[in-house]
Amino acid sequence: MSIILSIIYLIATVTFVFGLKMLGHPQTAKKGNFIAAVGMILAIIGTLFLHDFEVSITNYILIGAALLVGTILGWVIAVKVKMTKMPEMVSLFNGFGGGSALLIGLIEFGNNVGVDESMKVSSSIMITILAAIIIGSITFTGSLIAWAKLDGSLKDIRLPKYNLINNLIFLGLVIFGAYIVMQGTDSFALVYLLLFASLVYGVLFVIPIGGADMPVVISLLNSLTGIAAAITGILYGNMVMLVGGILVGSAGLILTFVMCNAMNRSLSNVIFGAFGGDAVTALPTGKTGGVIKKTTASDSAILLNYASKVVIVPGYGLAVAQAQHVIHELELLLNKKGVDVSYAIHPVAGRMPGHMNVLLAESNVDYGKLIEMDDINPQFPNTDVVLVVGANDVVNPAAHNDPSSPIYGMPILDVENAKHIIVNKRSMNAGYAGIENELFFNQKTSMLFGDAKSALTELVSELKNM
Ligand code: TAP
Repeated sequence: MSIILSIIYLIATVTFVFGLKMLGHPQTAKKGNFIAAVGMILAIIGTLFLHDFEVSITNYILIGAALLVGTILGWVIAVKVKMTKMPEMVSLFNGFGGGSALLIGLIEFGNNVGVDESMKVSSSIMITILAAIIIGSITFTGSLIAWAKLDGSLKDIRLPKYNLINNLIFLGLVIFGAYIVMQGTDSFALVYLLLFASLVYGVLFVIPIGGADMPVVISLLNSLTGIAAAITGILYGNMVMLVGGILVGSAGLILTFVMCNAMNRSLSNVIFGAFGGDAVTALPTGKTGGVIKKTTASDSAILLNYASKVVIVPGYGLAVAQAQHVIHELELLLNKKGVDVSYAIHPVAGRMPGHMNVLLAESNVDYGKLIEMDDINPQFPNTDVVLVVGANDVVNPAAHNDPSSPIYGMPILDVENAKHIIVNKRSMNAGYAGIENELFFNQKTSMLFGDAKSALTELVSELKNM
């Protein structure tokens, strides 16, 4: 490899690390993404023109055509995708990453068979090739199934004893892979069989998982894509692929565990527990009951108008209603009236990591006003009004008070400590966890029923008339 190419790879690697670091804050995320993308473009151009092996003109044409089609498709999809469809897009892109890894594994198997005299592939190369094929295939079909489930075109399917079947298939894959390595085979038939079994496992692994748990699974599959890319980096002795893969693999894994922690669930519970899917109806519905106090937009407007500190708690319902612009309008209106307004952000509010941050950023809410859970919780006792919009589980005190609750132990926003609480949702229906919320029966709570967008629009117009 030329020294210039090595330097380009080093620069690209540094841009990935810095880019990833900058993705950690909304203010720097866009720039971080751009920097890492520039690094990736540099690495691609460097690889294309500074490599030290022969490439025919036909191959250049094929690579150019693939780059063109991929760039146009990726660009159009990314520009057109709606914020609410982001997990689907990530899932699809993960699938393509896995698909690439499995194709590279297959091609490299072909390239390595018959290279030495005995027609045997060395064990270390074989392990790497098979790992790329297995992990790439699982990620490919798993991500496509995740995409179809998020899209609503596929329902959760749970075969009897699906956990046992899945574990047995996975064990079978590992044993079969080990057998192929020990045989040092040149048989394409065996490798295709392993490929097919891995593709089937990818489907069976994701298909039973509850719909709302898909973001965790997508993050896990994302991590697997990174691992598959790192393995192909080992195959080619390519530092950029290796580092890029390791970064994606580890970041995805960390995110997976952060999400699990914030939901107070173990990864095995997400994968094997079927929580958030059909089984959710079988969960306890809480022990609350009691009387609720309904309120109107005009009474809520009066309460907000005379408050000096208001905290807004956005949740999944805000995203569903696409009420991010009107909530920002409400915030600005209250600011004009001298009310201090901030947003309380729970790490798993909504259905995907950073859902609320991204949603509010879309309507240009000042990042400084988004306060993380640990920082906002001590502020609730000094808050005059908390306005909960389409959030449920993330403000459910059962997480503190009810050891039998499925969310017991989950860190929540302690909104019940505020002086007044207004909750906007459409009905008394449960949220993702499928349980009742004692907050709605709290004497300090008033329920403002209605779709978030219409309720907030009414609230804004009432406030404007004051
Ligand atoms: P949820 O607990 O799911 O509650 C959302 C509430 O929004 C529902 O109770 C629903 O009540 C209401 N709603 C729905 N559409 C609405 C609309 N158009 N207008 C007004 N309200 C509407 O949401 P949350 O509090 O944000 O909690 C998130 C949950 O998702 C947590 O349990 C979390 O563990 C889970 N989860 C999150 C993630 C990530 S990474 N964010 C990943 C997987 C799971 P109505 O039907 O009565 O309106």
